Amino acid sequence: MSEAVRVPDDDPALSNLRLLRTAEGTAAVQRAAGLFAEGVDLLTGLSRLREELGPELAGPAWELARLRARARPVFGADADLLFLTAETLEQAGRPELADRRAARLLADGGGPVADLGCGAGTDTVALARRGASVVAIDRDPVARELTTANAAALGVGSRVRVVGGDVVDVVDRAENGWVASCAAAVLDPARRADGRRQLDPDRWSPPWSTVARLLERVPRALVKVAPGLDHERVPDGVEAEWVSVGGSIVEALLWGTGVSTTWRRTTLLHDGGFLELTAEPDPGTAPAGPVRGWLHEPDPAVIRSGLVALVAADLEATLVDPTIAYLTSDATAGSPWVRSFRVDEVLPFNLKKLRALLRTRGVGRVTVKKRGSAIEPESLARQLRGPGPESAVVVVTRVAGAPTALVCDVSGG
Ligand SMILES: C[S@@+](CC[C@H](N)C(=O)[O-])C[C@H]1O[C@@H](n2cnc3c(N)ncnc32)[C@H](O)[C@@H]1O
Repeated sequence: MSEAVRVPDDDPALSNLRLLRTAEGTAAVQRAAGLFAEGVDLLTGLSRLREELGPELAGPAWELARLRARARPVFGADADLLFLTAETLEQAGRPELADRRAARLLADGGGPVADLGCGAGTDTVALARRGASVVAIDRDPVARELTTANAAALGVGSRVRVVGGDVVDVVDRAENGWVASCAAAVLDPARRADGRRQLDPDRWSPPWSTVARLLERVPRALVKVAPGLDHERVPDGVEAEWVSVGGSIVEALLWGTGVSTTWRRTTLLHDGGFLELTAEPDPGTAPAGPVRGWLHEPDPAVIRSGLVALVAADLEATLVDPTIAYLTSDATAGSPWVRSFRVDEVLPFNLKKLRALLRTRGVGRVTVKKRGSAIEPESLARQLRGPGPESAVVVVTRVAGAPTALVCDVSGG
């Protein structure tokens, strides 16, 4: 074994990773990937690999082949080259989003960028692929080994310097717009601990105090935050962006004062491209009005970013209630920012009356949606199910303060 792959015997994850980077390791992962692709089950796969490669390589090779297969739908061809652990794969974002972030951060100038908490190196690689030299910092030796391995495997190793360190201290030393000798930085705090999501930003690692300090001291900074981040936390002059894919928020970002161009932004990955909605200043709340022929459910990123009023104005729609993010208008919207449903009936919420109405309409299958109501959608859907051949969407919400059910056409708009 060469010097480069000599392994410490105290950290199995690190030694496995170094073993997998050797020529024997590469061949072992290829063999494991072949068995995996044939659909061979875990026990058979492992016993064959043990026979062929020995016990030391069999388990790590099988595990990496399994993680690469899991990464392939998102990472495409890169997945076959990536080094991953289950935890870092979970933390790594989508590469097309990492590329979009890197392009925007670098748009106003190149120069080295600090990746503060580099994990498996997804952001580091995206920045390096856009031409930046990157100082990738992590306190976890496995993360550092992964970033080194991935930068090399994806052909950008020469632009990446991986170093150990505590990001809290690194950011404490930031001044005059510079951190870790870089005038731009990406910070993606770990927001899970012991397998659980940490809802309190003060419990992220590094914690909110480091996020706030970085945004204060380094204008060309980008921080990934939890989608549920309280707007109150967003410092003045910092842009907050929520990104949605397929109707779910996939990331929320804070853009430092040197890269911010607006107050709030909602971004939608749509038909392979990005659609954006921006507001400067706060557009406030949309007006409310009676339920009309169509109900529109805004994308969750529109709601989280506080831009419902913009979509309402565009659709000539009103809120069904000042406190509820359902919109209503006379016409179908055909807008990527909302899902639309034709409203067939509006009635005060009453289980017996609702069930009777659905029976008369021949509705058997019901999908329940709710907002501003304590009902449990799945259990209500079971209670409303009947023998009829038709389907309906029942929306339980408040209309002008009153608990209301809207029976809608499933085909939507
Ligand atoms: C969410 S992950 C980053 C994922 C990464 N952006 C990627 O694309 O793969 C957070 C990383 O920050 C590191 N980290 C957390 N607290 C840290 C600290 N105080 N100092 C250095 N690294 C830290 C963790 O070890 C972890 O690798």
